[in-house]
Amino acid sequence: MTTTRIDTAIIVVAAGSGTRLGAGSPKAFVGIDEHTILRHCLRGVFDAAPAQVVVVVPADRVGEALAEAHEQAGERRDLVTVVAGGETRQGSVSAGLSRVWADVDIVLVHDAARALTPSGVIDRVIGAVRETGHGVVPALDVIDTIKRVEGEAITGAVDRSELAAAQTPQGFRRDILVAAYERAAQEFTDDAALVADAGHHIMRIEGSSLSFKITTPADLAQARRIVADAPIAPVRPALAHRVPRVGVGTDVHAFGGEGALWLAGLEWPGEPALSGHSDGDAVAHAIVDALLNAAGLGDIGTHFGTARPEFAGAHAEAFLAETERILAAAGWRIGNVSVQVQAQRPKFSPRRDEAEAVLAAALGGAAVSVSATTTDGLGFPGRAEGVQAFAVALVIPA
Ligand code: CTP
Ligand code: MG
Repeated sequence: MTTTRIDTAIIVVAAGSGTRLGAGSPKAFVGIDEHTILRHCLRGVFDAAPAQVVVVVPADRVGEALAEAHEQAGERRDLVTVVAGGETRQGSVSAGLSRVWADVDIVLVHDAARALTPSGVIDRVIGAVRETGHGVVPALDVIDTIKRVEGEAITGAVDRSELAAAQTPQGFRRDILVAAYERAAQEFTDDAALVADAGHHIMRIEGSSLSFKITTPADLAQARRIVADAPIAPVRPALAHRVPRVGVGTDVHAFGGEGALWLAGLEWPGEPALSGHSDGDAVAHAIVDALLNAAGLGDIGTHFGTARPEFAGAHAEAFLAETERILAAAGWRIGNVSVQVQAQRPKFSPRRDEAEAVLAAALGGAAVSVSATTTDGLGFPGRAEGVQAFAVALVIPA
């Protein structure tokens, strides 16, 4: 790892839906060659000077993005943060800003859709912000003759020398960008416009023709031609990605919830309910953590936090099925899962087979085994205050 202090963050916004591209999946996850738009963008980002890299993606793509970013980052994987985006680009930048490390002074905001942006542009933006303290926008001269129009009619000419086509990454002093976002009361076309509206100076540096934004199918075709003409060395999958991996997860919930007890994917009529976010199913939550941990994809909070309100009241089956999908999208299949639950009640063994079958089905047929024990009256499980579960999972490269 680098030993110098990281004073720069690059927020890569990739949470858009790609309506105009119309490829059937979020734009950043569409392939240019064997790699996605996001992956190509991250190549440029990680080839630039070391910076915290905050990738902002649709809530259900966090796992995939984490896997892509880790693979591209190699030894720099500690620099990666992935967060769920917002409804608008501005909302997504805000989500990214909230995760920038405390000691970062300079923040760049970059469109994942500008996938082929050379790392040199990124380094020059950082350098210019550091040198001047101003907002910095890479931009290209406008080559076409630009006309003012009203419907079909051309009503005037625009002096080209007064125009430039703005690109990303746009760089700012962190304090200025954060303050400008806090006061922004409307949607702006880009970050520079938002910061300029707050009264700050923005300067231009030379952009790159490779930084064009992939917006339409024609743009994607253009990116494919460029990549095919100048093949970038294929990324070798990290060694860590090609061997089976184990992971561990634990969870604790207290009795005292509303309604019925849900544990190990089963409803237990007549037993006191566990409390907590969702149904308090400690067995299911421990399994989710063990699986995500094994795959190096963060933990339950990374994927099922406040950005996914649809999971607030969910039971084990929904959590486990989504976890399996996240793992599969990141190139992992589940080997087996082993859980031990420590609880004074309910008496688990009569329903063990049933619980294992429900959990296994939710994980696409993976082998799941659950054992249970009391703790001889000791500790919070022994006092019947709550339930504790420990899970170990094995995941295998798909
Ligand atoms: N973006 C984002 N969050 C949003 C909207 C956009 O992070 N809610 C990102 C996109 O992923 C993209 C960049 O902002 O990298 C520029 O936006 P654009 O090119 O408009 O992408 P999309 O919004 O995905 O495309 P479209 O407008 O065609 O739907
Ligand atoms: Mg858009």
